[in-house]
This record gives sequence, C-alpha cells and structure tokens, in this order.
Amino acid sequence: MNSFSLVIFGITSNLAQKYILQALYDMEEKGLLSAGMSIVGISRREMSDRDLQDYVHQVLHLENIHHRHEIKEKVFQKLCQRLKYISGDVTDQKLYEKLKEQLNHKNRIFYLATYPDLYHYVFENLQRHKLNVQNGGWVKLMIEKPIGFDLKSARDLNHLLLNYFTEDQIYRLDHYLGKETIQNILTFRFANDIFEPLINKDFIDHIQITATEDFGIGKRGGYYDQVGALKDVGQNHQLQMLAFATMDAPAKFSNEAVTKERIKILKSLLPLPEKIVFGQYEGYRKEANVSATSTTDTFYALKTFIKNDRFQGVPIYIRAGKKLKQTVTEISIVFKNPVNRLFSHDEPNILIYRIQPNEGIVLKILTKLPGHEAKLQPEYMQYCYRIDPHTHYIPDPYERLLVDTIRGDQTFFNDAEEVEAQWAFIDPLASTRGKPHIYKPGSWGPKAADELIEADGRKWLEPSMEFCKV
Ligand code: BG6
Repeated sequence: MNSFSLVIFGITSNLAQKYILQALYDMEEKGLLSAGMSIVGISRREMSDRDLQDYVHQVLHLENIHHRHEIKEKVFQKLCQRLKYISGDVTDQKLYEKLKEQLNHKNRIFYLATYPDLYHYVFENLQRHKLNVQNGGWVKLMIEKPIGFDLKSARDLNHLLLNYFTEDQIYRLDHYLGKETIQNILTFRFANDIFEPLINKDFIDHIQITATEDFGIGKRGGYYDQVGALKDVGQNHQLQMLAFATMDAPAKFSNEAVTKERIKILKSLLPLPEKIVFGQYEGYRKEANVSATSTTDTFYALKTFIKNDRFQGVPIYIRAGKKLKQTVTEISIVFKNPVNRLFSHDEPNILIYRIQPNEGIVLKILTKLPGHEAKLQPEYMQYCYRIDPHTHYIPDPYERLLVDTIRGDQTFFNDAEEVEAQWAFIDPLASTRGKPHIYKPGSWGPKAADELIEADGRKWLEPSMEFCKV
C-alpha cells in the first residue's frame, strides 16, 4: 500500500473515539498500514504528542460493542509511533502552517470528524495553503453523514465540495456500506442465482427493515436533538439496507455499476407523508443537551413502496429507534403464503438478513415435527458468520472503508446524486413531524407504529435471537 498521511480533523470527537481509532488499531494489527504512514490528529484541546498517545490508549480500552477484543501493547506502541498531534482552531491560519510542516507525504487523506458548520473553514484553508493540491501524489477527503440536513443543504454542501475537490477525491461515508453483513447481501443475491427469481412482487408479500437499539442517546444530545432518528439513521443506513436488498443486479462489480443500481432504487421510493409515525422515549427531554420542550424523534416507523415493475404493490415497512426492547438490525423479506394448501398453515417463509447481532442470513421454513402426526414447525436454515470477539473475525466497517479509500475504490461510498436522492425521499416525510408519540423505554415504540402496519393486516416481526447464536 502507498505510504500516506491521514489527517483527522476532530481526533477527540465521538466518531474518532468510537470508530476511527479502533479501526486504525485493527489495521495496525493486521499490517494494513504501510511503513512510514503517519496520522495527524487535530482538535482544539491542548495536548502534547504524549498526551495524544495516552488519550488513544484510554479510548481503545473503553467499553465498545463493536470492538471487544484485546488491545495488545506491542500493536499499540507501533500505532503510537505514527501519531502526531496539532492543537488549534480550524478557522486559524496557524493551524494549517503547522499542518504543512507535519505532512511528510504527497499522498494525503483528510478525514472530517468535526462539526459540519466548520467544514467550509477547513476546505478554504486547505486550499489557501495548497494542501488539497495533488502534486505528484493523491489527495482524498473522507466525509461522514450527515451530508446536509435536507435536500437543499445537501446540494449546497455537494457544490461546495466541488470547489475544492473532484468527485473522485470525495469519499462520502455511510459506515453501513462498510459492514460485511450488508456487502454480503450482494454476494448472496448475485452469486447464488437460485434466490433471485423469488425477489419480486410475485413471491414477496412485504419487506420489513428494523434497526432498534436498547440504549439512548448517551452524551450526543447536542447533535441528536438537532437531527432525530429519521435523519440520523433513516436517511442513510436504512435506505441503503433497502437498496442492497432490492436493487437489480449491477452490470458488473464496479463503483459506477453498483452505485447506479442503488440510486435507481433510491429514486423510485415513494414518500407517503401520511404513513409515518414519530416517537420519543419517555425521559428523552431530560437528557444532557436536549431541549426541555424537544419534539425530536428518537423513533420512527414508515411505510413506502418502490415504484418499479419488479416490486409494484409490495409494501415496505421501516422502523428504527433508541431505548427500545432490543438492539437488532435486520431486513426481513416476507414471502406470500403458498398457493399449495396441502398443509393448512399461515406461517410465511421469511428471508432474514441479520446485520447484527447474531449475524447471518437465514431462511425461515416449515418442517415436519418428528412424530406420528403431520404437524409443522418453523425452523431456520442458516448461514452464520463465525465470530470470535477475541480475533474480531469480521472487519470493522471503518477498517473496510479506510482500506477502500486508500486503494481508491468508491463502490461502497455515496456520490452526490445518491445522497440527494435519499434526501428527496426524506424531506416530505420529515416535514410532517409534529409532536412525537411518547413511548416507554424498553418497549417496541409507540402504539401508533403498530397501528401503521396492522391497518394492512400485518404485524411487526419480533426479531429472533434463536439463530446464529454466538
Ligand atoms: C450512527 C448513528 O450513524 O449509527 C447512531 O448516528 C447509531 O445514532 C449508529 O447508533 C448505529 O450504527 P451501528 O453500527 O452501531 O449499527
């Protein structure tokens, strides 16, 4: 791999703590960071290089549901040798002068783990100091969701970005695209021809997408209260899950072809403003940095359709939220009951892409209960990931995406058109948000969400923990 400098604006951010630094540790452990590669961390906090090392050490040892393995001192020490720290304000020229001195590679990645309202200062100053110029090397920009807070602001940001970088330098990151369990949906569907003929309106009754968490917003009130569940995970992660599960086969496995198919789905989604329910968990308004009169959604449930021939009339129900009964993310493709009524039953077959936990792909089928009677029982045919928390078998999404950025593969990143297509679907829904329904922590959300699906004679599926147990 080419040697390069990785500059992280916002090294003390929640994002850097929870994801980026963990991924860099894993990359170090796996030998994925080239000799001489350096990491420059930037934040306003006054710290020495040594303080930064202590900070990283501390962060790597924090309780982290995605990163539970042992931290080896030897690996940590190797990582430390790459670390440099610059303290300063991103609006201040001096910061960029210091940065220029630290940058010892022509290949550079700038990672924005800072507040969106600071982006333009960073771009402007990188340009002023010619740090974004590709001069005998490459320069790439990694930028996270939220890309804007609605369609207009996303467009503005996309325009702004093009003043300083070309589209092939911009890596818009949605970490769900880096998840193995999401990428494997494409392999499952397009490497095994046997399932694909079933993925359409003739066989599918409906689709459910669930992303629930049993924890609240933690210390992120300042961010979350401005955003809410629909924009935090609905606009991005969940729409991407839907796109992966329903897109047509790309002509080939390339960035252009895969992105094109995802966009086709995103552009054909039908917003139904009367079919969305917003919820807020009891006690949310008392969380730190949350307004005492906040109407922000910590839960939402919606219904939509894909306006194409393949999925015509197939309802799609999506829900997500915090402080709910279980932490689980999955896509369920619920098939129609068979026309053959040899056995009278009304349990549909369900194809489940379990993103987390108990990661796997399972098919719920009916089998004969052993015995003298012709009794049926539901069972799971399952493919499970082999996960050993100590060897972290599944690479972290941030590791996958950092590696892709280094090697210049944008297949699992969003381009401007894609992000805008997501907002075009979300905007009319977000604008209907009034007073949310209050729900009890530990429940499955407000009753109104049940009513949304029950009005169609269907029910939310209770996610099973019976398969792919670790
Ligand atoms: C982030 C959201 O993008 O995704 C968080 O901001 C959410 O609110 C998280 O908890 C979920 O990601 P994961 O990988 O834990 O499922």
